[in-house]
This record gives sequence, structure tokens and C-alpha cells, in this order.
Amino acid sequence: MKVLFAASEAVPFAKTGGLADVIGSLPKELTRQGLDVRVILPKYGDIPAVYRDEMTLIAAFDVYIGWRKQYIGIEVLEYEGVTFYFVDNEFYFKRPGLYGYGDEAERFGFFCRGVIEALPLMDFQPDVIHCHDWQTGMIPVLLKAHYSHVPFYSQIKTMSTIHNLKYQGVFNQPLLKDLFGLSDDHFTGTALELHGGASFLKGGLLYADQITTVSQTYAEEIQTPFYGEFLDSLLRHRKDQLTGIVNGIDYEVFDPMSDPHLVQPYRDSLPKKEQNKLALQEQLGLPVNADVPMIALVTRLVQQKGLDLIQHVLSEILSMDVQLVVLGTGDPAYEQMFRQAAETHPDKVSAQIWFNEPLAHQIYASSDLFLMPSQFEPCGIGQLIALRYRSVPIVRETGGLKDTVQPFNEFTGEGTGFTFSHYNAHDMLHTIRRAVYFYKNDRDSWLKIQQNMKKGDFSWKKSAQQYIALYKEMIKHNV
Ligand code: GLC
Repeated sequence: MKVLFAASEAVPFAKTGGLADVIGSLPKELTRQGLDVRVILPKYGDIPAVYRDEMTLIAAFDVYIGWRKQYIGIEVLEYEGVTFYFVDNEFYFKRPGLYGYGDEAERFGFFCRGVIEALPLMDFQPDVIHCHDWQTGMIPVLLKAHYSHVPFYSQIKTMSTIHNLKYQGVFNQPLLKDLFGLSDDHFTGTALELHGGASFLKGGLLYADQITTVSQTYAEEIQTPFYGEFLDSLLRHRKDQLTGIVNGIDYEVFDPMSDPHLVQPYRDSLPKKEQNKLALQEQLGLPVNADVPMIALVTRLVQQKGLDLIQHVLSEILSMDVQLVVLGTGDPAYEQMFRQAAETHPDKVSAQIWFNEPLAHQIYASSDLFLMPSQFEPCGIGQLIALRYRSVPIVRETGGLKDTVQPFNEFTGEGTGFTFSHYNAHDMLHTIRRAVYFYKNDRDSWLKIQQNMKKGDFSWKKSAQQYIALYKEMIKHNV
């Protein structure tokens, strides 16, 4: 079985969010389970030189995008047992950052076309092209529209995975017609049309042979108008080809027992975990005190993550005997909110408005509680890392958060975290208070939660098996 992942980001090359974690780790597990999985990405200028210097050029040719003929180079790099290909064109990709340019349709349209055209030259004929998010949504469309009559491509199946339905890649129709040479019937309401424009993501969802998303609950939620982002009816229509498969995390990278960033490795020992907390308090200039519960927030600071709930009750949270450690960047208003809280409450808040991988690991290891009150959450990765680092999650019951955190029940002793269901600031506040109460006053319950967290398996093993089963199903009629 041969599978090509096409995506716009992957750890350790380029990352803005959880997508990069998935693309950087799932192929490793699929390889372990016997598949020939390779990954293709844009060659961004931001990819660290240590990797860029190791890449070798294996093909160079021209691709048509609209009336323009553009150079494309395919470079290759083996990384931790997986083959990564990079699509090189300096005009499109040698810019700072990954996204946010005015010619996004052309850049990622070029990438989609480049992926398809590169295959014969890569000496790799995949059974399945596994596309991720809107940036790769045109691959299934173009394959069906322009390549299906070519023998090399005729058997290739496509899978589209939704990591976030909110990002849809909508552009104006004349532009996409020009870029891709598609006929008018591709732009009707039952085709690519969305919000008056045309959407890459919708194309991927319509034309792929299979659709998946990153948790079972999200797979159900997106079939409703509330979470459906105007694509719910399409997703209901395709529900027989829509599967939710929960993300895992890389158990080697995220392992408190062998994590090089921690001052004290640990697995089940709370006193050892506590050593990390004391060191971090010292490092961040917070009062050094093992007994104060440390609440962590490691996230992009955007609306989706429930930050307006926190904003609403921040002063109540800070009136409790807690420490709040925030790591991330995003919406300037939220960055400012945490900076200001740190200024007014230096003994309680540390606002780390940047991103740094070692510090993230230290925060997971040091914190007692991990807050994630998302408005919606396709899967969520922070809570999985938190569970592995025995930082008890406080989450809203939505998407992958609902599927991976089991609410603590003090009567049965079951559960791995604290949860609330309505998107309401006081429900969240009440849940934080409840969690803090157990931390401070009910050691037995706290130890029970720790025990329960130990039993969970959030590695990629099972989910990779589910992907493999789907790939097999997709190609079973191939000759
Ligand atoms: C997106 C989603 C997040 C998910 C990640 C990886 O970032 O918002 O919930 O975990 O993709 O699938």
C-alpha cells in the first residue's frame, strides 16, 4: 500500500498549528505498520537551514497555472524513516511565514497541480493521495477533471481530511476558472460555489473518494448547521463516506520519562513532577510554592479556543489561589489581555506571548491543570499531551475534547478531567473551581484521576490502524 500525504505544514519543517503535529507524526506510525507513506509539502523559505541543506533535487519541470508557466523543483529528504518531498518555487514559497498572502489561491493552486504533475517523475505511484485541509482541496478536483483519463492516474484514490472546517479557502470564481481551466459547471452551488466565491475545501470534500475528520464527535457536529460552516448539508449528503478518526500524539516526542527539556523526568511520581513545577515557577518569576495549583494554557490565542470565556471571568479566576501560565501568540487583543493580567498580578500570572517548544514541554510537565474551553475543537492536541504529562484537563465537551477527556465523577471515581458542556463563562468558572477544590482538598480523588489518566492510550497506534482499514477499503476494487 502506497500513500502520499499532501499538506501545507509538518513538524519539524513548518508549523502554525495542530495540523503540523499530525503530518509530522502519523506517517511515522503508518510506516511502522508496514505502509509506504511519503509526504509532500511546499518548500517554504522558513524551513530551517539544517533541513534545507540536506534536500536533494530529484526533478525540475514547468507547470501551467492559468496562463503562466512556472518552474517547479521537487526536492527530497529522509527524516526519521519517512520520505518528505518539497515543492520548490521561490516566487511562491520563499516568503516569511506560511500563509496570509494576497495570492493564496495561486500559491496553493500551484502546489496542488505540482503534486499531481510531479508523481510520474518521483517514481512513486500512490494508491491513495491523502489530502489535508483546504490548501490541498483542489487535488481531488483536478485529478477528476483533468487527469482521470491518463492511465498513470486512473486508479489513484483520494482522501480529504478536515482538520478545521472553518478555514475554507474561498476565492473569487473567475480567478479559479483561470488558474485551473475548469468549466462553468464546476462553479455551481452543488459544486465549488461557496459564499458567492469558490472553495478549495468544498472541492476536496465533494471530489475525494473518502472524507475523514479528526474525531468522531466532530464528524457528527459538522453535519449540523451550528458547526457545519455552511457545509453541513454537503457533509450529511456524504455521511457514508465520512469517518471520524481521533488524532494521536508522538509518544516518543511527548514522553515525560525521556523529555530532554525537563529538569526532572517522571512518569507516575507526583513528587518528581512537582520538581518541574518548582523549577518553572523560579524560571518564570512566580512565587515558588508546590501547593498552589498551576493552570496552564498553551494555545494559539484565537477565538476558537474559548478565550472570550476566559476574558469574561478572568478577575474571578485570579481571585482564587492559583497560578496561570499562558504560552502562545495570536489575536493582539488576547495577547494584550494576558500581558495586562501579568502586570497587575505578577504573583499569579505569567504571560509568555511567543512560542517555544521546550517551554511548552516544561509547562505541560509543571502544570497541575490544563485549560481548554474551546468553542469548537476538531480534535485538540494540547489535552492529549496534558494527559500524558498528568496535567488534568479542564475542557468544554466538544469535538475531540469530548472524545478524549472523560469527566471526573467523584462517586464512581471514574474520569480523567473536568468538563462542562455549555459555552458559558460561569459554567467554565464553576468547573475550574471544582477542579481546584479537588486538587486542594481531596487528595484521594486527585490520585484517582492520576491513576485514570495512566490507563489512556493516546498514541497513534489505533488511529493508524483505522486509517489503514479505510485505505484498504478504498482500493479494494482496483485491478
Ligand atoms: C486543527 C484543529 C485541532 C486539531 C488539529 C489537528 O488545528 O483546530 O482541533 O487537533 O487541527 O488535526
